[in-house]
Amino acid sequence: MAHRIAVIAGDGIGTEVMPEGIRALEAAAQRFNIDLAFTTFEFGSCDYYLAHGKMLPDDWFEQLKGFDALFYGAVGWPDKVPDHISLWGSLLQFRRQFDQYINLRPCKLMPGIKSPLAGREPGDIDFYVVRENTEGEYSSVGGKMFEGTEREIVLQETVMSRVGVDRVLKYAFDLAQTRPRKKLTSATKSNGISITMPYWDERVAEMAKQYPDIAVDKFHIDILTANFVLHPDWFDVVVGSNLFGDILSDLGPACTGTIGIAPSANINPEGTFPSLFEPVHGSAPDIAGKGIANPIGQIWSGAMMLEHLGYQEAADTMVKAIEDVLSEGDSQVLTGDIGGLGNTLSLGQAIAERIRG
Ligand code: NAD
Ligand code: IPM
Ligand code: MN
Repeated sequence: MAHRIAVIAGDGIGTEVMPEGIRALEAAAQRFNIDLAFTTFEFGSCDYYLAHGKMLPDDWFEQLKGFDALFYGAVGWPDKVPDHISLWGSLLQFRRQFDQYINLRPCKLMPGIKSPLAGREPGDIDFYVVRENTEGEYSSVGGKMFEGTEREIVLQETVMSRVGVDRVLKYAFDLAQTRPRKKLTSATKSNGISITMPYWDERVAEMAKQYPDIAVDKFHIDILTANFVLHPDWFDVVVGSNLFGDILSDLGPACTGTIGIAPSANINPEGTFPSLFEPVHGSAPDIAGKGIANPIGQIWSGAMMLEHLGYQEAADTMVKAIEDVLSEGDSQVLTGDIGGLGNTLSLGQAIAERIRG
């Protein structure tokens, strides 16, 4: 039976890297005999907003809930629609309403790519950021008072539920158990944020009792960001709240040379709702329309989607194809962010060709 995939390209370079993501997935599907049926949606983009006054149609949940996965590009075009409206009206609704409470973001220094950190080689940077994805600092609890006056107050609460914290920690501990180093690092800030962050630490300590084989450490987020740069080799699985995970998952990939290659899986582990796969990067208005965006983040997200659907070998083949093309280092093929003279199409085509075998 065909796997039904909803495709939403979104804005800016989302629309440029998406065709390469699909090209790579189609190559893998052909080679491994996987039946993928793509359905493209125009909503979830700023142009849709300009035409309809909203980011999504009222029945978006009904339209999408039956799909096996969502394949997303990037959303946001601040000159057309304020970011908080476009993002809260689309991507953040998918994550919340489809209860995609895990945001899994690998950070790996690939062969052939130069890290901006001196002397770092592939193997030195290879970890996962596991980001809480439905609550925390991204909350709709809050408001404005005395608006427009000198007494104006704005307030937005951090929300941590026991269920919400425990389920992301459990996922991260379970992931650490599958890794050779069996190490978990928790991002905290319990010195300054005195209610929610100590609670996070408490839940980590409680959960750690059930995983005696996992080496657990924690860092306050400020020094943790410094250690990402100074000692990226220390990390294996890093778990953090929604905002801390967001920050770490741009910094981690930047340490691996470019955020253009970083993928992410927004997962509803129970499979009650579809999971969503998208690059970590955004719509990049500064380079959009030029056809020069790196498509690897989108392609690798496609590999994570195939893994999620149960096709481990196909997923591994896609990642291997990415590694092979990067190691080859043909400057006519690679995009500018990784030192090449090529473009989105040349890199996407080279990877798809490798996947075909
Ligand atoms: P961004 O990730 O779009 O861009 C940051 C920088 O990285 C830019 O200089 C850009 O050119 C570069 N870059 C990003 N992706 C690249 C790629 N594939 N290849 C080469 N270079 C790449 O972040 P931003 O500028 O903060 O945000 C732009 C818009 O995207 C905003 O509207 C923002 O809200 C939105 N955004 C969306 C998502 C998402 O859909 N998941 C993620 C981040 C930002
Ligand atoms: C990401 C993005 C989003 C986030 C924005 C665009 C709302 O930065 O996917 O990392 O903060 O989650
Ligand atoms: Mn982000």
